[in-house]
Amino acid sequence: MTLSLSSTAVQIAPSILSADFAHLGRDVAAVERGGADLIHVDVMDGHFVPNITIGVPVVKSLKRVATRPLDVHLMIEHPDRYIEDFVRAGASMISVHVEAVPHLQRTLALIRTSGARAGAVLNPSTPAVTLEDVLDDLDFVLVMSVNPGFGGQSFIPRSLDKLARVADLLARAPRPVPIEIDGGIGTDNIAQVVAAGARIIVAGNAVYGTPDPAAAVADLKQAGSAALPR
Ligand code: DX5
Ligand code: ZN
Repeated sequence: MTLSLSSTAVQIAPSILSADFAHLGRDVAAVERGGADLIHVDVMDGHFVPNITIGVPVVKSLKRVATRPLDVHLMIEHPDRYIEDFVRAGASMISVHVEAVPHLQRTLALIRTSGARAGAVLNPSTPAVTLEDVLDDLDFVLVMSVNPGFGGQSFIPRSLDKLARVADLLARAPRPVPIEIDGGIGTDNIAQVVAAGARIIVAGNAVYGTPDPAAAVADLKQAGSAALPR
């Protein structure tokens, strides 16, 4: 499926971090049945964040079974070393943390020239203004609404103000740049984050922590879409 990032519709990106790693193919198929738009893949290195998850070989295997684009969230130091490998493995979107890269403009350009959409991620304590001088280089922005490292954490309420500030800044970008939100999102707060400007919604626990992940995705999409401005 070709990737189309929208600033007007709500797209759901289930995070396989909360899936069963022994049954990833089955768990990806389940969320695709429920209408998932993207598959969110959390890559952690035990240095930038305190947890270790998966890497390039798993992305390569996922690419063989997934019918939706892979959205690869790199929570790693030195992401430049791995970007081309992740794109070759099948990543359609790659996001890097502004806190992890000293030369953000160069890293975003590398993602694009490697053939993926480029995203910058902001930790909860990182201000929106850090993106002011890379507006031309961004295809999307990922706002963390938890401190990265683990699934199943609670949404940080201040993230709603953050979304609004990021949306204000992105209004000055030369083309529409959708905002993705990640951490602690469920049917209880998806309407609020959409109203505040988020359009790509990551959900791990709210999808895979339920008995019916397909239904959970469909519910999130419906609740999120209902909150779009008319
Ligand atoms: C956190 C990861 C998230 C995580 C979200 O570091 O980036 O993608 O899987 O999980 P939930 O939706 O459970 O907060
Ligand atoms: Zn993530």
